[in-house]
Amino acid sequence: MTGDVTRPAPDFWWGAATAAYQVEGAVDEDGRGPSIWDTFTAEPGRITDGSTGAVACDSYHRWREDLDLLNGLGANAYRFSIAWPRVQPFGSGAVNAAGLAYYDRLVDGLLERGIAPFPTLFHWDLPQALQDAGGWLSRDTAERFAEYAGVVGDALGDRVACWGTLNEPFVHMALSYAFGTHAPGEVLLLDAFAAGHHQLLGHGLATQALRAASSAAVMLVNNLTPVRAASAEPDDVAAARVYDAFHNRMFLDTVLLGTYPEELADAEVVREGDLATIAQPLDLLGVNYYNPTQVKAPGPDNPLPFEIVPLEGYPRTGFDWPVVPQGLTELLVGLRDSYADALPPLVVTENGCAYPDEPAPDGTVDDPDRIAYLDAHIRAVGAAREAGVDVRGYLVWSLLDNFEWAEGYTQRFGITRVDFATGERTPKASYGWYRNRISRDWAPDLP
Ligand code: BGC
Repeated sequence: MTGDVTRPAPDFWWGAATAAYQVEGAVDEDGRGPSIWDTFTAEPGRITDGSTGAVACDSYHRWREDLDLLNGLGANAYRFSIAWPRVQPFGSGAVNAAGLAYYDRLVDGLLERGIAPFPTLFHWDLPQALQDAGGWLSRDTAERFAEYAGVVGDALGDRVACWGTLNEPFVHMALSYAFGTHAPGEVLLLDAFAAGHHQLLGHGLATQALRAASSAAVMLVNNLTPVRAASAEPDDVAAARVYDAFHNRMFLDTVLLGTYPEELADAEVVREGDLATIAQPLDLLGVNYYNPTQVKAPGPDNPLPFEIVPLEGYPRTGFDWPVVPQGLTELLVGLRDSYADALPPLVVTENGCAYPDEPAPDGTVDDPDRIAYLDAHIRAVGAAREAGVDVRGYLVWSLLDNFEWAEGYTQRFGITRVDFATGERTPKASYGWYRNRISRDWAPDLP
């Protein structure tokens, strides 16, 4: 074992985030089993540019370069994810030592550079064998997730700073099971609820397994959004409230209060005792923030109890997402106001933007829009801290341009450009800006 594991936590975690399927590549190496994303990307028409994560950023081989990039930033935390199918190729039972060894090297490499490892156990790449048995629609997947968490906890728990159990269970429920735009492509609309509940159960069981294996901190990473009603009409306000229940409160009330929001309280898949399992005490709550959501009452042909409408009047990213930094302050302050003592300290575990930045003839990449985005959002975190919210970290999405799920390689979120033909990394102007920003920490004259 290498690195100084007794180093005290800094006052604030500054760093970046990535996810296994988006950056690693090497999908057939060292005994990794197939994941639902290998299956999904092989289906014609699923991914905008027809691409896959088979090579992606090739971080499985180029991880030292990635860690050096983090080191060059002055980052003290790196949020990456562990590919379940590398550790358990078929989702249960036999452990693949060669796959686990990759994360062992990564964790040691981080510690050697003085960077705290923040691994997430599930960032959407479910072993295909578990999908064949029902995926997250099956309650058994929650048990399997806890088994996997125990394996990883035993192997790395002496060196990890903070575990993340699930990444964005709402987004996985919605895009993968309700609307089918992400793997495994199920279109179940409201029946996707079971996939959300079983993820929550898996989170609770995995938290117990991690506690048994390791004394590292544990968090859940949620995608959260301030929800705005499109008008003051009662139907729009009611629809916004229901959307808020699905997107935010389903993954907060359960975990922090041990209750389902009243709008979702009579679901059949919820068994006696589940909520007590789900509501394990947490050390931190991870908050991924991209933009607010505007909602109106559904039209007559809409099978859902809400309808999302574009939020106009703001600048937009390359992904056509509105840029609303004050939404992040609103979100963080709102969490404190809503959950008070039940709320653990917060870490912004993802925030960032895609822009179609291109290299200049000399190879440099100027991305002023990204710099403006990051500056405004970090200031928004500062405003929440000034309002007394306990925010302990900010991790930019993403360290690298990477495989952006259904959008393939058409959306670049990185502070580092990746040439996907060669794997070459080029820090963008935003990388240099962020390095300077990190070096200033929360000096009294900031934000
Ligand atoms: C996900 C990332 C994704 C990012 C941008 C988040 O929902 O956790 O994997 O790349 O948003 O879409």
